[in-house]
Amino acid sequence: MKRLIQAICIATITTASAFADDRQVIKVPSEIKAMFLEEMRSHLDNLNEITLAIASGDFKGAAYVAETKMTFGHGMRTLMLDKGLTPEQIDAIMESMRQQNGGTMGRGKGMGKGMGGGGQGMGMGRYMPDEVRQLGQTFHEAAANFAKVAKSVSSPATAEDYQNVFNALSETIDVCSACHSSYRVE
Ligand code: HEC
Repeated sequence: MKRLIQAICIATITTASAFADDRQVIKVPSEIKAMFLEEMRSHLDNLNEITLAIASGDFKGAAYVAETKMTFGHGMRTLMLDKGLTPEQIDAIMESMRQQNGGTMGRGKGMGKGMGGGGQGMGMGRYMPDEVRQLGQTFHEAAANFAKVAKSVSSPATAEDYQNVFNALSETIDVCSACHSSYRVE
């Protein structure tokens, strides 16, 4: 009996600590929190769109979703696409902006801050601690790499192509998880 009680106590303690939320809190104004979580939910939709595109063998479509909705400055891209620029023209503009900024744009300034009046940026970078902005940047880079890998698939796609594409996608999802296991917003 004593053993059983001991076992229950240990189980309770272990469960309690497993449920303790020791993630770091990011404090943001409530409207920013709402925007942030909305953007997050859209990322889950993006992942779903990407997965569906891959399932139907549409690698260009998968790359397009990642590039227009998940890479650094995705809001800018959407704006430029709306204005009728071609993806090639946009790539060139983004590249020259990256160079002008000596690579500092985004580094520590992601999540809309670097893009300032980009219009579509979340503009909440200033509420984010540096490490979170860094993770955001890592996330954008992983998405950009995924887009690159997916775009390079020629048709017909080989088993190796699928492996490469899913590996790159998994690296992107890893960043989602890394951030979620360390931070929460309040
Ligand atoms: C830079 C950090 C970061 C990255 C990268 C990130 N998230 Fe989040 N996400 C968060 C934080 C912080 C929350 C709030 C969690 C909380 O308060 O419990 C969140 C919440 C969410 C939510 C819940 C939204 C809600 O309405 O409550 C979803 C869904 C989500 N993220 C999906 C994703 C997906 C999918 C990815 C990757 C494609 C991703 N996130 C990448 C930080 C991040």
